[in-house]
Amino acid sequence: MAFLADALSRVKPSATIAVTQKARDLKAKGRDVIGLGAGEPDFDTPDNIKNAAIEAIRRGETKYPPVSGIAPLREAIAAKFKRENNLEYRAEQTIVGTGGKQILFNAFMATLNPGDEVIIPRPYWVSYPEMVAICGGTSVFAETSIDNGFKLTATELEKRITPKTKWLLMNSPSNPSGAAYTEQELREIADVLLKHPHVWTLTDDMYEHLTYGDFVFKTIAEVEPALYERTLTMNGVSKAYAMTGWRIGYAAGPVALIKAMDMIQGQQTSGACTIAQWASVEALNGPQDFIAKNKAIFQNRRDLVVSMLNQASGISCPTPEGAFYVYPSCQGVIGKKAASGKVIGSDEDFVSELLEAEGVAVVHGSAFGLGPNFRISYATSEALLEEASIRIQRFTNALA
Ligand SMILES: Cc1ncc(COP(=O)(O)O)c(C=O)c1O
Repeated sequence: MAFLADALSRVKPSATIAVTQKARDLKAKGRDVIGLGAGEPDFDTPDNIKNAAIEAIRRGETKYPPVSGIAPLREAIAAKFKRENNLEYRAEQTIVGTGGKQILFNAFMATLNPGDEVIIPRPYWVSYPEMVAICGGTSVFAETSIDNGFKLTATELEKRITPKTKWLLMNSPSNPSGAAYTEQELREIADVLLKHPHVWTLTDDMYEHLTYGDFVFKTIAEVEPALYERTLTMNGVSKAYAMTGWRIGYAAGPVALIKAMDMIQGQQTSGACTIAQWASVEALNGPQDFIAKNKAIFQNRRDLVVSMLNQASGISCPTPEGAFYVYPSCQGVIGKKAASGKVIGSDEDFVSELLEAEGVAVVHGSAFGLGPNFRISYATSEALLEEASIRIQRFTNALA
């Protein structure tokens, strides 16, 4: 339609939302569908956080917030970075947005000129390249492989840096692969960045609290303090505190960048919902035992899904360090024929046949820039995960 902006032609709709919708439509028609597409915890927000919001309403905290966030939340964010990441940020170096998503948008809007490049390791979260495109930048994809746990290597990063590179976008633990970088792996990335002072790092640490076993989470500014002056450390309450609907994300970085993001936000939303901000103060400052309990549940689910998927013929599923996703390869089923008669030529064919045949909704890897793979979100009950895995096994074992 001629009326619409040219920028829209560069943007794709979200594949994860499309899968969730397709599963919903099939369910509405009476089909028995297990949806493993959604990227949100299935837990409810803890009561202490809900109560903090209710009290904020009763106190009359219902006016416009300061654009960058209410002072108690910015202080709680600074304290969180000190406590958990050993990073010294003053409250004025922090900003609160309407979800981590808006923080990313603000950062790209505030920094990207046409032709500026953002290095994005793939597989990537579906929204990154679209956000970069909307903001007029160019995504430069860096390759990873299942053999190195879907992690960016120093050599690959070096290859992708040009004079136009503005940002390296890091996401650990990763959506969609669940891969999380060890301190040593970040050290190697940091060593490359030290050689290229014009490259900043935007680190999306949304899944920080969801790592398993003895994995120790680190973020890049902590690993290499010399990068602190050119890093935006992004995080949020959505995944760790089961607060996806409250829409609060935050970041910390150099004051000049935060001020630029504040200016954009001031013209865009005037700041995030005051009541949700008060809830987030409680999330960050209140009891943290909820996180450990959830982690244990997620770890059991991960182990269940990995083990059952590895028993499905043609599927190979590595064990990721974190988040609530697995990203198995379906290379072994490509070229095989489903009971419907259709030959599976791609991961997209695989997920669509799986949904038709067995009512299991997963997202094809090519939507995240690397296939043939598929993403399973295990943020659902063990009973459903077990049933879904049985169905996947039945489906792949029946391929001819
Ligand atoms: C990697 C990653 N970053 C950011 C976000 C967005 O978080 P929020 O819901 O706070 O906007 C998500 C949500 O799915 C995500 O997976």
